[in-house]
Amino acid sequence: MNNHQKCKLTAIWFITTLVSAEAVAQESESFDAEAKYQATCFACHGTGQAHAPVVGDTIEWEIRLEKGFNTLVQSTINGLNGMMPARGLCSDCTDDNLKAIVQFMLDESQ
Ligand code: HEC
Repeated sequence: MNNHQKCKLTAIWFITTLVSAEAVAQESESFDAEAKYQATCFACHGTGQAHAPVVGDTIEWEIRLEKGFNTLVQSTINGLNGMMPARGLCSDCTDDNLKAIVQFMLDESQ
Protein backbone atom coordinates (compact mmCIF):
# COMPACT_ATOMS: atom_id res chain seq x y z
CA MET A 1 0.00 0.00 0.00
CA ASN A 2 1.51 3.36 -0.94
CA ASN A 3 1.31 6.46 1.18
CA HIS A 4 -1.46 7.96 -0.85
CA GLN A 5 -3.70 4.94 -0.27
CA LYS A 6 -2.90 4.94 3.45
CA CYS A 7 -3.82 8.56 3.69
CA LYS A 8 -7.11 7.94 1.92
CA LEU A 9 -7.96 5.07 4.27
CA THR A 10 -7.20 7.18 7.32
CA ALA A 11 -9.46 9.90 5.99
CA ILE A 12 -12.30 7.44 5.44
CA TRP A 13 -11.84 5.99 8.91
CA PHE A 14 -11.86 9.46 10.42
CA ILE A 15 -15.08 10.48 8.67
CA THR A 16 -16.87 7.23 9.58
CA THR A 17 -15.88 7.61 13.22
CA LEU A 18 -17.11 11.19 13.32
CA VAL A 19 -20.42 10.34 11.69
CA SER A 20 -21.19 7.43 14.02
CA ALA A 21 -20.23 9.40 17.12
CA GLU A 22 -22.62 12.11 15.98
CA ALA A 23 -25.44 9.61 15.44
CA VAL A 24 -25.03 8.19 18.96
CA ALA A 25 -24.99 11.67 20.48
CA GLN A 26 -28.15 12.64 18.63
CA GLU A 27 -29.97 9.50 19.67
CA SER A 28 -29.28 9.97 23.36
CA GLU A 29 -30.10 13.66 23.18
CA SER A 30 -33.50 13.19 21.61
CA PHE A 31 -34.67 10.61 24.16
CA ASP A 32 -33.83 10.55 27.85
CA ALA A 33 -34.51 6.97 28.97
CA GLU A 34 -33.81 7.75 32.61
CA ALA A 35 -36.21 10.70 32.74
CA LYS A 36 -38.93 8.68 31.03
CA TYR A 37 -38.34 5.78 33.39
CA GLN A 38 -38.69 8.11 36.38
CA ALA A 39 -41.86 9.64 34.94
CA THR A 40 -43.68 6.42 34.02
CA CYS A 41 -42.11 3.11 35.05
CA PHE A 42 -40.75 4.20 38.44
CA ALA A 43 -44.25 4.22 39.97
CA CYS A 44 -44.15 0.42 39.88
CA HIS A 45 -40.56 -0.57 39.19
CA GLY A 46 -39.04 1.77 41.73
CA THR A 47 -41.28 0.60 44.54
CA GLY A 48 -42.31 -2.99 43.78
CA GLN A 49 -45.92 -1.83 43.43
CA ALA A 50 -48.11 -4.68 42.10
CA HIS A 51 -45.07 -6.94 42.66
CA ALA A 52 -43.20 -5.34 39.81
CA PRO A 53 -39.55 -6.37 39.63
CA VAL A 54 -37.68 -3.55 41.36
CA VAL A 55 -34.94 -1.81 39.40
CA GLY A 56 -31.70 -2.42 41.29
CA ASP A 57 -32.68 -5.99 42.23
CA THR A 58 -29.82 -7.80 40.49
CA ILE A 59 -31.11 -11.35 40.90
CA GLU A 60 -34.67 -10.56 39.85
CA TRP A 61 -33.46 -8.97 36.59
CA GLU A 62 -30.83 -11.63 35.97
CA ILE A 63 -33.57 -14.27 36.00
CA ARG A 64 -35.79 -12.20 33.72
CA LEU A 65 -32.94 -11.53 31.31
CA GLU A 66 -32.60 -15.30 30.81
CA LYS A 67 -35.67 -14.98 28.57
CA GLY A 68 -33.58 -12.72 26.32
CA PHE A 69 -33.48 -8.96 25.98
CA ASN A 70 -35.93 -8.91 23.05
CA THR A 71 -38.50 -10.94 25.01
CA LEU A 72 -38.33 -8.38 27.81
CA VAL A 73 -38.86 -5.60 25.31
CA GLN A 74 -41.82 -7.50 23.80
CA SER A 75 -43.38 -7.94 27.29
CA THR A 76 -42.99 -4.20 27.76
CA ILE A 77 -44.69 -3.42 24.46
CA ASN A 78 -47.51 -5.94 24.88
CA GLY A 79 -47.83 -6.05 28.65
CA LEU A 80 -47.42 -9.17 30.80
CA ASN A 81 -49.86 -11.30 32.81
CA GLY A 82 -52.31 -8.44 33.18
CA MET A 83 -49.92 -6.96 35.77
CA MET A 84 -47.43 -5.14 33.61
CA PRO A 85 -49.52 -2.69 31.55
CA ALA A 86 -48.87 -2.53 27.78
CA ARG A 87 -46.17 0.05 26.98
CA GLY A 88 -45.75 0.55 30.74
CA LEU A 89 -48.46 3.22 30.49
CA CYS A 90 -46.14 5.39 28.40
CA SER A 91 -48.49 6.36 25.58
CA ASP A 92 -45.98 8.56 23.76
CA CYS A 93 -43.10 6.04 23.88
CA THR A 94 -42.06 4.44 20.59
CA ASP A 95 -40.90 0.81 20.56
CA ASP A 96 -37.32 2.09 20.40
CA ASN A 97 -37.93 4.35 23.39
CA LEU A 98 -39.26 1.41 25.40
CA LYS A 99 -36.25 -0.65 24.36
CA ALA A 100 -33.95 2.13 25.62
CA ILE A 101 -35.79 2.25 28.95
CA VAL A 102 -35.56 -1.53 29.40
CA GLN A 103 -31.83 -1.25 28.68
CA PHE A 104 -31.58 1.51 31.26
CA MET A 105 -33.45 -0.59 33.84
CA LEU A 106 -31.11 -3.53 33.23
CA ASP A 107 -28.03 -1.30 33.43
CA GLU A 108 -29.26 -0.03 36.80
CA SER A 109 -29.81 -3.57 38.03
CA GLN A 110 -26.38 -5.11 37.44
C1 HEC B 1 -48.71 -0.37 36.90
C2 HEC B 1 -47.40 -0.82 37.30
C3 HEC B 1 -46.31 -0.89 36.22
C4 HEC B 1 -45.84 0.13 35.40
C5 HEC B 1 -46.32 1.58 35.32
C6 HEC B 1 -44.77 -0.45 34.62
N1 HEC B 1 -44.60 -1.77 34.94
FE1 HEC B 1 -43.25 -3.06 34.10
N2 HEC B 1 -43.99 -4.59 35.24
C7 HEC B 1 -44.99 -4.47 36.20
C8 HEC B 1 -45.22 -5.77 36.83
C9 HEC B 1 -46.22 -6.06 37.94
C10 HEC B 1 -44.34 -6.68 36.20
C11 HEC B 1 -44.19 -8.18 36.48
C12 HEC B 1 -45.20 -8.93 35.64
C13 HEC B 1 -45.07 -10.42 35.80
O1 HEC B 1 -43.92 -10.94 35.79
O2 HEC B 1 -46.11 -11.06 35.89
C14 HEC B 1 -43.57 -5.90 35.22
C15 HEC B 1 -42.58 -6.43 34.39
C16 HEC B 1 -41.77 -5.69 33.55
C17 HEC B 1 -40.68 -6.23 32.78
C18 HEC B 1 -40.24 -7.69 32.75
C19 HEC B 1 -40.96 -8.38 31.64
C20 HEC B 1 -40.66 -9.86 31.57
O3 HEC B 1 -40.83 -10.41 30.47
O4 HEC B 1 -40.26 -10.46 32.57
C21 HEC B 1 -40.14 -5.19 32.07
C22 HEC B 1 -38.96 -5.26 31.12
C23 HEC B 1 -40.89 -4.01 32.40
N3 HEC B 1 -41.90 -4.35 33.30
C24 HEC B 1 -40.65 -2.76 31.88
C25 HEC B 1 -41.40 -1.61 32.16
C26 HEC B 1 -41.16 -0.32 31.55
C27 HEC B 1 -40.06 -0.02 30.57
C28 HEC B 1 -42.10 0.53 32.07
C29 HEC B 1 -42.30 2.01 31.77
C30 HEC B 1 -42.35 2.41 30.37
C31 HEC B 1 -42.93 -0.25 32.98
N4 HEC B 1 -42.48 -1.53 33.00
C32 HEC B 1 -44.01 0.27 33.70
C33 HEC B 1 -45.68 -3.32 36.54
C34 HEC B 1 -45.51 -2.08 35.93
